[in-house]
Amino acid sequence: MLKDRRILLIVAGGIAAYKTLELIRRLREQGARVRCVMTAGARQFVTPLSLSALSGDKVYDDLFSLTDEAEMGHIQLSRDADLLVVAPATANILARMAHGLADDLATTVVLATDAPVLVAPAMNVRMWDHPATQANVALLRDRGVAVVGPDDGDMACGEYGPGRMAEPQAILAAIAAHPGKAGAGPDAVSGPGPLAGRRALVTSGPTHEAIDPVRYIANHSSGKQGHAIAAALARLGAAVTLVTGPVRLADPPGVAVVPVDSARAMLDACHAALPADVAVCAAAVADWRAADSAPQKLKKAPGQETLTLTLTRNPDILASLSAPGPRRPRLVVGFAAETERLLANARDKRARKGCDWIMANDVSAATGTFGGDRNTVHLIRTEGEEAWPALDKTAVAERLATRIAETLAEPSA
Ligand code: CTP
Repeated sequence: MLKDRRILLIVAGGIAAYKTLELIRRLREQGARVRCVMTAGARQFVTPLSLSALSGDKVYDDLFSLTDEAEMGHIQLSRDADLLVVAPATANILARMAHGLADDLATTVVLATDAPVLVAPAMNVRMWDHPATQANVALLRDRGVAVVGPDDGDMACGEYGPGRMAEPQAILAAIAAHPGKAGAGPDAVSGPGPLAGRRALVTSGPTHEAIDPVRYIANHSSGKQGHAIAAALARLGAAVTLVTGPVRLADPPGVAVVPVDSARAMLDACHAALPADVAVCAAAVADWRAADSAPQKLKKAPGQETLTLTLTRNPDILASLSAPGPRRPRLVVGFAAETERLLANARDKRARKGCDWIMANDVSAATGTFGGDRNTVHLIRTEGEEAWPALDKTAVAERLATRIAETLAEPSA
């Protein structure tokens, strides 16, 4: 997925810069070419030598360096990449980017680039919450800048809240999901068919929520339905990005697959895959994750008979993709997996999450839906409800893809 991607990584001055070192290592492992630009502030946290050793390239930091300009001018540096990634993106660099400043190499490169930009904000919670930062981020988003994170958590400054840079794995997933400069991103290709030229996003599989480095919370989702939908949309010609939790299934042909583990990584990868004409959320996302995932394996204390885990809510990916705004896909489809009051719960879920259609399916044990090959679905839309017979998951996918193609062919409201 990341093989031969050309990533220009801009490292700004925040304590989270140490996590960027891990990000570079993982990007290189996956075959990406990484070139680093650092701000003066970044030098306070990581050295040019560590960035250079990990990226296997020289590090650029001086706008007026005659040697650098002779070898590779800042314009060429900015154009040579298929994606610019700013990590950590401090409040300061976000403000400079939002206002078009070009007062050092990093901001000049951002202003001069023809590649899309992904930022991973990292700062103190109050700085993140400040209306100035929120306005700057909103402005950048409106201009198409993708944002991954920040996460909630304990901060280096001793406070708690949103502002912690997303984990390297989540940034990696967001980069993999990002289409990059035309044709450079994941190999989602649009083919001939009624969905030619359309972009689709599909989530699939379970999520794994770490309890400690060796244990996780998961569920029985096989990913069969989500993968079948991605394949069906691709067969109708859509360029499909499939963001999937851990499954034992082959990648559907012609689909750009972004593997993730946790709900938070799935959310980031989904937003990075936008814009899309249609999003189908078929993943069985864990509603809860461990409030504090232990950094080391949890050990039993002598005589310990119980263990209490505190769980915290995961983000709702379907609700977040359905939220009104310029990046909302025209059509958002969710699933309602229910064991009782199928239709009432599903109608309620559609209203609560703000999606356009809900595929209601009965997953009570007797139906064998989880892990099985068949599915009995009711499609709930504003225009009316349809009860589909029990069908193979591939047939359900074909029907849904056909309905999607019909709807996208209609002029948008
Ligand atoms: N979903 C999601 N993100 C979550 C939870 C669910 O995107 N954190 C999506 C699923 O992919 C599915 C839909 O929401 O399309 C409904 O999932 P379901 O598990 O049935 O609903 P819940 O939100 O868990 O609601 P409830 O607790 O009422 O069952």
